[in-house]
Amino acid sequence: MSKSSGEATASDTAQLTIDGKTFDLPIIEGTEGERGIDIRKLRSQTGVITLDAGFANTGACKSAITFIDGEKGILRYRGYPIEQLAQHSTFLEVSWLLLHGELPSKAELEEFTREVTLHTMLHEDYRRLFDFMPKSSHPMPVAAAAVAALSTFYPEPDTDDRIFRATVRLLAKMPTIAACAYKHSIGQPSMYPRNDLDYCSNFLQMMYAVPCEEYTPDPVVARALDQLLILHADHEQNCSTSTVRMVGSSHASLYATIASGISALWGPLHGGANQKVIEMLERIAVEEGSADEFLRKAKDKNETTRLMGFGHRVYKSYDPRAKILKQTCADVLSRVGGSSRLLEIAQRLEEIALSDDYFIERKLFPNVDFYSGVIYQAIGIPVNMFTVMFTMGRLPGWIAQWLEMRHDPDFRIGRPRQIYTGELMRDYVAADKR
Ligand code: CMC
Repeated sequence: MSKSSGEATASDTAQLTIDGKTFDLPIIEGTEGERGIDIRKLRSQTGVITLDAGFANTGACKSAITFIDGEKGILRYRGYPIEQLAQHSTFLEVSWLLLHGELPSKAELEEFTREVTLHTMLHEDYRRLFDFMPKSSHPMPVAAAAVAALSTFYPEPDTDDRIFRATVRLLAKMPTIAACAYKHSIGQPSMYPRNDLDYCSNFLQMMYAVPCEEYTPDPVVARALDQLLILHADHEQNCSTSTVRMVGSSHASLYATIASGISALWGPLHGGANQKVIEMLERIAVEEGSADEFLRKAKDKNETTRLMGFGHRVYKSYDPRAKILKQTCADVLSRVGGSSRLLEIAQRLEEIALSDDYFIERKLFPNVDFYSGVIYQAIGIPVNMFTVMFTMGRLPGWIAQWLEMRHDPDFRIGRPRQIYTGELMRDYVAADKR
């Protein structure tokens, strides 16, 4: 039987004894039975804080958006299993679900789709922004800069109506920004969005069409892309989402806040892993037979190599997103007729790793990034654009989490504590006396 989120009962308490004195701490229980010790009054009552590197045991908020059971490999958005959404829904419908908490009615979805479609174009002055970036730039900082720059063109989203407009603008313009960043990097004119196409088909034409030539997006590729965006749409309090909540907690502009999420996502331990996976697979492909050697290095503590696309802070079983993508990968490759060499290497790596004690003991399984890169590559997305694709997908999740934080009655600016380990007080000594 489900409970309302965050309900705590008098019988639910934990006892903490410090210096012989015992304190009662309430236990908060979520709707899926997850339990957390409420330490909000810990420091004021006891003078101590908790220390938790990487926040691995710290709940930073109560949230009703995404549920993950890492042990069982479960992922649900607003209660709906990711498998059902990936199979039956669309990215814009899932975006609405994340933002509003319920699936849209047919009319709501049509209106939302219309709004997003109508705002895909970029202001001509804004488009010139891309001209000032070096062509060799990685598209992730270009995307972060471009999204932050939206706050120079549009009003501060500080009312419900403006927040709705900003949300629509971000969802609508992100594919255009991503495609502009790419076209600029290869020295081609950027393509205008086409309102007759669906979200992903329009993105594909902005990426691959050239002026004066017919381009028809492949519906199977567009659908695979849409599914990838659904799978990336939210993942509760990961690094970039926590960054969004942290930056947003200072009441910075929504655009600047999302730009900070993009920067956090870029890192190779987070969203940047999809690029690293394909680079790893390509390296193994050219160095014939090096899969075992690569895994040996990944296990060696004296090496910095990691098996990219493997392991997860939360999943201690197969990432459900990777399970779906493994199948999509095979489907897309058979459709577009791309090389299956990298998929074969990925499958071989997975097979060896899943029967290796090192990976078994540490519960390291393929994560969402392990197969996504192979799909992106098969459909012609350049490697340095992989993390931008992740950004497009994660956008509704970031905004939904930001909105939830704004309406949270427990809201406080994010401000962790520390245990100071530096020098004790000492007197300043002038430079000539040191
Ligand atoms: N290859 C080899 N060893 C690994 C790996 C890996 N990919 N991942 C974790 N380990 C080992 C790690 O060395 C440690 O071993 P020991 O206990 O002997 O010191 C143990 O497993 C626990 O790892 P951890 O680094 O403490 O785990 P974490 O929860 O802090 O890190 C992670 C999670 C995702 C950063 C990490 O697994 C990793 O670096 N994976 C590769 C990068 C990657 O694929 N990232 C994408 C994550 S999914 C997309 C997203 O949501 O961002």
